[in-house]
Amino acid sequence: MKPLMVANHAKWPAKDDPIFAIAGKAQEATRKYGSENVINSTLGALMNDEGKLIAFKSVFDTLKNMPNEEIAAYAAIAGMPQYLDAVVEAFFTEHKPDAHIRVVATPGGTGSIKEAVWNYTNEGDEILTSDWFWSPYQTIAEEGGRNIVTYKLFDDEGNYNTEGFKSRFKEIIDRQKRLMAIINTPAHNPTGYSVSDEEWDDILDFLKEEAKDLEKKIIIFVDSAYIDFAGVGDERRAFFEKFSNLPDNILVIAGFSASKGFTMYGLRNGAVVGISSNEEIANEFYASCVHTGRANWSNGNRGAMLTVAEIFNNEELKKSYLEEKNHYKTMLRKRADAFVENAEKCGLELVPYRDGFFISIPCDKPYEASEALTKKNVFVVPLGKGLRFAVCAVAEDKCRKAPALIKEVMDGLK
Ligand SMILES: Cc1ncc(COP(=O)(O)O)c(C=O)c1O
Repeated sequence: MKPLMVANHAKWPAKDDPIFAIAGKAQEATRKYGSENVINSTLGALMNDEGKLIAFKSVFDTLKNMPNEEIAAYAAIAGMPQYLDAVVEAFFTEHKPDAHIRVVATPGGTGSIKEAVWNYTNEGDEILTSDWFWSPYQTIAEEGGRNIVTYKLFDDEGNYNTEGFKSRFKEIIDRQKRLMAIINTPAHNPTGYSVSDEEWDDILDFLKEEAKDLEKKIIIFVDSAYIDFAGVGDERRAFFEKFSNLPDNILVIAGFSASKGFTMYGLRNGAVVGISSNEEIANEFYASCVHTGRANWSNGNRGAMLTVAEIFNNEELKKSYLEEKNHYKTMLRKRADAFVENAEKCGLELVPYRDGFFISIPCDKPYEASEALTKKNVFVVPLGKGLRFAVCAVAEDKCRKAPALIKEVMDGLK
């Protein structure tokens, strides 16, 4: 495709976002038939049982109580210092690794991915992730002339494919010498998988072995955008402690997002968190990330940052925020349990779900299946390897009904 006016590197095909396209159809059906007759599982945001976006009261009351000029002013380039401290507390809780940690504010978790990809891979590099993955990884990589390559997320028994990860990782790093792997856990989008602590041990033992070759630079990007909706307490954060005392040539970068955990989706608030045993490497991380921020978005959303800081600096507010978040976490868990139980009952195959907003259904004809389901007023997102059902957006009773409807449609396509 020859560019008309844009520079060569900026020519991309104009494509409709498949998620927003199907979400539009779901909205139309809701208008026509009423929300009680429609199952809209398209959007990746927490909705109440009536399909309305949930916005935490503790968060938005705090934001709206702030003086206008606090919200209006620019933020510090690296992020408001009290926010950066709050991120460390909110993200790691009791599971902070023993390492040099640096935090730089970014617009959402997306900004943290951009920071990591730009600063820790070279043009033309391959970046490794699993075959089920969030498509903006590809968009961010290709924008900078990098390529996403994949390993199979699940083995034939449906377990996390650590062997596949290791062999693909080894093959690339032996050739490329520097490799970033993106691991989206806990509560992976789109499958809901969470890497277990034992699987982390296996991965890290392998990486430590690889790191004995000092020529190799190993970067693990942990995308934890959904961590606030994983597990029951904070046990799904325990793996962070495993990033203590790693060899210098293993750098862990974590993506923090306030989009889901604080329902700040549109406020664009997040952070990139660098974790290294080596202070100089941590400082270098900080300087590079601040530079990238300045070059791309200048600074972040001051009001949103101060809101997170205020919540974590005021015990009473923190308590009400945590209670509110836990209430919705339980609601989400009940919806997911209802879906999984009923999938089992009717024999609908799922990829292993552990936590979070989405459940995936492997399917050879995802586009046909999604289209056929719209005739039953069930709206699910078709992906390359299956269908994505957003339990975050669907009431529990509908999560109970949906598996049988999906199964029926999929059987009809065989
Ligand atoms: C896997 C994954 N990573 C990161 C993000 C970051 O989102 P945001 O930039 O809105 O914080 C999302 C949001 O949908 C996601 O699904």
